[in-house]
This record gives sequence, C-alpha cells and structure tokens, in this order.
Amino acid sequence: MVDNVFKSFIAELLVLNKGERVSNFEYRGKRYWLKQAEHHSGVMRILKPSPLEAIKTEVLTLKKMAEKLAPVPKLVLAEKDFFVVEDVGSTVKQWLTEEQISQPCMHQILNDSAKALANLHKMSLAHGRPALRDISWQDGQVTFIDFEASQYKKDLDYQQVRDLLVFIHSLYRYLGPLHDFIVPAIEQYRLQGGEAIWQNAAKCLKKWQWLYYPVSLFKNRGGRDLTPVYWVLKHFRGQSAHSFG
Ligand SMILES: Nc1ncnc2c1ncn2[C@@H]1O[C@H](COP(=O)(O)OP(=O)(O)O)[C@@H](O)[C@H]1O
Ligand SMILES: [Mg+2]
Repeated sequence: MVDNVFKSFIAELLVLNKGERVSNFEYRGKRYWLKQAEHHSGVMRILKPSPLEAIKTEVLTLKKMAEKLAPVPKLVLAEKDFFVVEDVGSTVKQWLTEEQISQPCMHQILNDSAKALANLHKMSLAHGRPALRDISWQDGQVTFIDFEASQYKKDLDYQQVRDLLVFIHSLYRYLGPLHDFIVPAIEQYRLQGGEAIWQNAAKCLKKWQWLYYPVSLFKNRGGRDLTPVYWVLKHFRGQSAHSFG
C-alpha cells in the first residue's frame, strides 16, 4: 500500500501540518493518523525525553506489539520524526462524552476495554499508560494506542500493576464516582485473567492507604487528578485482597 504516491501525499501533509503533533487524514477512502515528534519549548526541553527518541520508542513498541498479535493500530509508514498508523475508531473517552450513548452501550464499552487490558496482560505485555483517551473501541473491537510512555524500565509485574491503576484512575477521572459502571468493568478485568495483578495492586496500595483520609478532604474539590485518587484508594480499601498478610 505504501507506494511513492502515498509517500508524496504524506510529504505534503507534513508541510501543511508542520509542527502539529497528531493529525488524521483520508487516503483512498481510508482514514489514517499522522503522529509527529513533539516540539518542546523552554523547560520542557529538559523535562521531557528527546522527541525523536520518543517516536523511535513508539514505533518499536508498535512493531513488537503487532508481532505478538496484540491489538494495536497497523503501522503503515515510519520515519525518524513521524509515523503513520491506520485509524482504529473513537476512543473510550470520546464514546463516554457522546450525548446519546445508551447505558448498555456504555457498560459494553467499559467491560470490553477492561477485558482487552486483561488479555494484553495475559500476553505478558503492558501498555504503559492505558488512560481512556488512549484506548479505542469500534464495534466491540478494542485497540490500544499511544505507546510513548516508557515500557522497559521496570519489570513486567510492576508495569502491569501500574497499567491497572492508571486504567482505574482514568475510569474515575472521566466518569466520576459512577460505581455502577466502574465496578463491573474492574470485575471483568479480574474475571478475564487479571485477578493476580489486581491482588498485587491491592497489596501495593495498602502501603498508601494512610493517604485515604487526607485525600478524602479533596474528594469533592481535588480536581481531575486528585479526586480520582480518592476513589481508587476507596475501591481497594472496600475489598479484601486475599494475599493481605
Ligand atoms: N490510530 C488511531 N485511531 C484513532 N484515533 C487515534 C489514533 N491515533 C491517535 N488517535 C487520536 O489522537 C489522540 C492523540 O494521539 P496519541 O497517540 O495519544 O498522541 P499523544 O502522545 O499526543 O497523546 C488520541 O487520544 C486519539 O484520540
Ligand atoms: Mg495520548
């Protein structure tokens, strides 16, 4: 599919969308996404990893995941400062903010996403930061996007626990305390093979439960990052992990 016509089409897009981090386009009736190296300014140049390294890591991760048949977008073109992938539909975050979404549909999307995360973990893989804006859902098919978060620095158990905590945090971040939707999704993760990782997450969070009361002071006014921390702590607090000593 990647012929010279496609390549010159991309070259034109790169000029038109110069400096734009992520953009999508249609080519011969199909949608694609173009992701370019980020342009940092000021202090971010020091704080953030090299943009070219980040693109390289993401391309490598996409290839590694595809080899293992993990659900990731198909890579169609990769160069040192950008890559192009196929469109995989709306993200879970976008679905949740649809006004007409029905409750059964919302349950389905959340449960499918949790099951897909458990499946990814069963394949001995981790995402790095599976927030709802980086998980897509299309006709029951869940796909993970955005693999920029570094994957290789810690062992797999740690990465999978972190994935689960990021996922639960993201559920509370975007839904608020809608337990009727969130609790069944977490159940799905546990039932579909994620139980041991859930137990590890519970064990890990036990050390942080002292934060529960201080954080509870912010449960209604902690903003979109801190308030979900309260609900994550509460989720694990309310349930007994079998491996607690
Ligand atoms: N293959 C894709 N299919 C559908 N949407 C995508 C795809 N790639 C990116 N997006 C959309 O673009 C957004 C930003 O892309 P992402 O790779 O997450 O970049 P960033 O690193 O800037 O967060 C995603 O949250 C999603 O909404
Ligand atoms: Mg992203």
